[in-house]
Amino acid sequence: MVAVAILAAGRGTRMKSDLPKVCHKLGSLSMVERVLENCLGVEPQRRLVIVGYQRERVQQSLAAHAGLEFVEQAQQLGTGHAVQQLLPYLEDFTGDLLVLNGDVPLLRSSTIKHLLETHQTNQNAATLLTAQMPNPQGYGRVFCDGENRLTQIIEDRDCTAAQKQNHRINAGVYCFNWHKLASVLPKLEANNDQKEYYLTDVVNFLDPVMAVDVEDYEEILGINDRKQLSSAYDILQTRVKDAWMKAGVTLINPDSITIDDTVELQPDVIIEPQTHLRGKTKIGSGTKVGPGSLIENSQLGQQVTVLYSVVSDSVVKDNTRIGPYAHLRGHAEVGEACRIGNFVEVKKSKIGDRTNAAHLSYLGDATLGNQVNIGCGTITANYDGVKKHPTTIGDRTKTGSNSVLVAPITLGADVTVGAGSVITKDVPDDCLVIARSRQVERKGWRMKSDS
Ligand code: UD1
Ligand code: CA
Repeated sequence: MVAVAILAAGRGTRMKSDLPKVCHKLGSLSMVERVLENCLGVEPQRRLVIVGYQRERVQQSLAAHAGLEFVEQAQQLGTGHAVQQLLPYLEDFTGDLLVLNGDVPLLRSSTIKHLLETHQTNQNAATLLTAQMPNPQGYGRVFCDGENRLTQIIEDRDCTAAQKQNHRINAGVYCFNWHKLASVLPKLEANNDQKEYYLTDVVNFLDPVMAVDVEDYEEILGINDRKQLSSAYDILQTRVKDAWMKAGVTLINPDSITIDDTVELQPDVIIEPQTHLRGKTKIGSGTKVGPGSLIENSQLGQQVTVLYSVVSDSVVKDNTRIGPYAHLRGHAEVGEACRIGNFVEVKKSKIGDRTNAAHLSYLGDATLGNQVNIGCGTITANYDGVKKHPTTIGDRTKTGSNSVLVAPITLGADVTVGAGSVITKDVPDDCLVIARSRQVERKGWRMKSDS
């Protein structure tokens, strides 16, 4: 049996933020959410999160996960004190407890599994993840005897100059025999520079304690400040982008591109520079996005092109061209082989196949059929100042330049709207409709002179 406990009660003073440290986002997920997801691979029976500073916000950032147990650490007196709070919750628990710092979010599931297996095979009292850090500043240093048995962990600030030369650091990821840990937790004392109860001191009372070095030290980077948050983001991005390139996606100038790890891409997708793919976005094969585009929680079909545009919460079907400078949002759905072009905004609208809106339009709360042509400057006036109203446009209908469709309104199929019209009443199929004042010409008219 395995239980997991995540330490997430601290404020994270070094972030200089009102938001609790573990709620800061790394891509689409908060740090603590990442830590939780990283350890799900070991299929823990219990998942406990120790919360304290702004506990509501921490709980909120984990709302997507059912079955978590939140344990309150009302005062944050150190990592050892945090784990002491588990005692009443795990009274009857027999098995191993995995403890993870909420600010170490880049761990791979395979590393956690390996730690647990080593712990169980060797029947250790405790097993710790360690690393040889090129720059160990700020981390607890791990000291072992000749047989790789751990003797002591000394926090950076409590180290002598000589001890600081040791580059083997504590990752903040531990596996404990819970029964043994529970019996020594009450022995912790706060006699250190910070006057805190350190979890790391339990190794002084437990035996045997083993250290397992992680191969890739980048996995265990702890995030204490904004600089480290940004480095962690870069590491995550490199992982994500390398994986997609390996899977057949072309990234042009990858350093200028960001891709959330929740995005799904098919082979032969091409991503051009300065493009950002966020959230639950899916992109089909042969589609080219960018340069200069943002795609958020959206699905793009195959052979789509998106150029200098923003697409949020929307769907674009095969062979459609978006942009330059288009904005699709609020559940827009654009059919196959359409063109949504220069300075066109589409909000919460469903557009049929082979329909074009190529220049300077706003389409909101509208339903358009197939092969519709929206003339330059056509606008659905969907808002009367209080409520939003729908517009419906039938197949093959064409709107002239600068027409305004005042919703609620329905234009039938094969309608032609004269340029500059303000349409306020429904129009049946097969009509030419013009709603503007006639042009007036006065032969021989001159401006009157004053004299
Ligand atoms: C800790 C380790 C250090 C290790 C480093 C790895 C201790 C004493 N030191 O140091 O050896 O190298 O992590 O990143 O454990 N927290 C609580 N309650 C508290 C205090 C902290 O829940 O009372 C949580 C924090 O929210 C954070 C985690 O524990 O997620 C680690 O706390 P932090 O203060 O960042 O520890 P470090 O000084 O980095
Ligand atoms: Ca830390």
